[in-house]
Amino acid sequence: MLLPKQSRNCVTGLAAACSLLLIACSPEEVRQVNLIPKSEQMTMTGGTFTVDSLALFGGQSSRNIKTVIDEAWSGNPEGYQLDVTPGGIDLRAGSPDGLFYGMQTLRQLYAGGEVPCVSIRDNPRFGYRGLHLDVSRHFFSKEEVMKLLDVMSFYKLNTLHMHLTDAGGWRIEIDKYPKLTSETAFRTESDWRKWWDGRDRKYLPEGTPGAYGGYYTKEDIRQIVSYAAGRHIDVIPEIEFPAHSDEVFVGYPEFCCTGRPYTTGEFCVGNPATLRFAEDVLTEIMELFPSKYIHIGGDEARKVAWKSCPKCQHLAREVGGFEEVQCYMIEHLELFLAEHGRVMMGWDEILKNSLRSSSVPISYRGQRGGIEGANRGLNVIMSPGEMIYFDWYQADPCTQPRAMSGFSPIKKVYSFYPVPDTPEMAAANESMIKGEYVAPSSVEYIYNGASKNVLGVQGCMWTEFVNTSEHLEYMMFPRMLAVAEIAWTPQNRREWHDFRRRINREIPLLRSRGINAFQLSNDVEITVTR
Ligand code: ACM
Ligand code: ZN
Repeated sequence: MLLPKQSRNCVTGLAAACSLLLIACSPEEVRQVNLIPKSEQMTMTGGTFTVDSLALFGGQSSRNIKTVIDEAWSGNPEGYQLDVTPGGIDLRAGSPDGLFYGMQTLRQLYAGGEVPCVSIRDNPRFGYRGLHLDVSRHFFSKEEVMKLLDVMSFYKLNTLHMHLTDAGGWRIEIDKYPKLTSETAFRTESDWRKWWDGRDRKYLPEGTPGAYGGYYTKEDIRQIVSYAAGRHIDVIPEIEFPAHSDEVFVGYPEFCCTGRPYTTGEFCVGNPATLRFAEDVLTEIMELFPSKYIHIGGDEARKVAWKSCPKCQHLAREVGGFEEVQCYMIEHLELFLAEHGRVMMGWDEILKNSLRSSSVPISYRGQRGGIEGANRGLNVIMSPGEMIYFDWYQADPCTQPRAMSGFSPIKKVYSFYPVPDTPEMAAANESMIKGEYVAPSSVEYIYNGASKNVLGVQGCMWTEFVNTSEHLEYMMFPRMLAVAEIAWTPQNRREWHDFRRRINREIPLLRSRGINAFQLSNDVEITVTR
């Protein structure tokens, strides 16, 4: 496997380009253009405010630095107004969230003991600005998760969706079902593909010498949730139902149709005990995660074992078919979560259900689930796999470590229209999704009035081919910053060439902060023409 490292030539070339830019631009210009995500409005007013970093970021009060929660604030609760003059800083917002994001802007503007004088009025485009992380195919330590939370908050992302369970291994301690972690958080082989395709694919008991994997204890999760809250980030847990659950049946084979491990990945929905299991697990999950949303998976159920299972056949006859067996479980979980004051989130297959108005599908099979959901009056999250999944190649596959088979260089990611509410925008997305020209006359789009139903966007990091932190960061960065800007910045303020300039300056900063970001090159663009 190629190591996810930059070529020497690329690094040298970029360093040369940066020093040229520094010579060519005044400090104000350099700093102005480097804000990511770009703010709603910004005026450079000239000059700088000189300030000690401790005074600015160390929590020391100073008469030159005012941070005020403005009772009369009528804007977005996460918005802020930042005025920097040679005499000081005035930061106002309607809430601690707004002040926090104003401080992140200051952190980006600050350099060498100075902040350029600016007047910024800023509001996020969306309230949901997400990153998804698959910790099942490969387990990532609490420390790596916290490192990601730091970077997320710096770029104003506010939601971490943790994919905690899947066939790669169960990653969270559940008191009532201890075998989930003691039996199936570890496996025989680190390389997921080799392990998954191998004949002797096995999970291993915790403590087996050489076993690969790991899990979060309840204390680890409390620390992650609290660390995230300190950075104004919600953590949404995902527990997969009814599919992607092969690991569960090693410790608890009674919950699958065959009653035998390593035979299926789907729960036996016709067995009422399965629903009790799901409720028990979700009860412990809700105790750990205060998030409004709980994600129940819902994707890619093959339904094969159900068809030869007497219990599932019986249920299918009662509810009207095997598709409806899946809907039956989803509806049960939706009701259970609602009774406990939480809202169900799920992959876009949940649109097959009639769904409560509060439930939230994540559109991952392209944009169509998001468009359908929004037009049905549901709140939706846009996360089309073909555009904003970070496990796809970001450059010529011949030069890259193994990835999922699609191609999503950063320009393609950045070109995503999260609210396709005109035929033209929907067609532009669809052309990128399909990789060929799609005419505006042939696409569904979000109708008048339904645009507000798009809660936000989420970049997804699946980790089938990613088993080190270094490689994880390489796949996520800098594409995650493109998603951060899609999520925060108004559409009319986003322009590829402007972003490209800023992201090229940001990459060395990411790397200097210990993030193993991919280095952009000229061959990472993608264009679909008629
Ligand atoms: C998914 O990519 N299966 C949600
Ligand atoms: Zn069954």
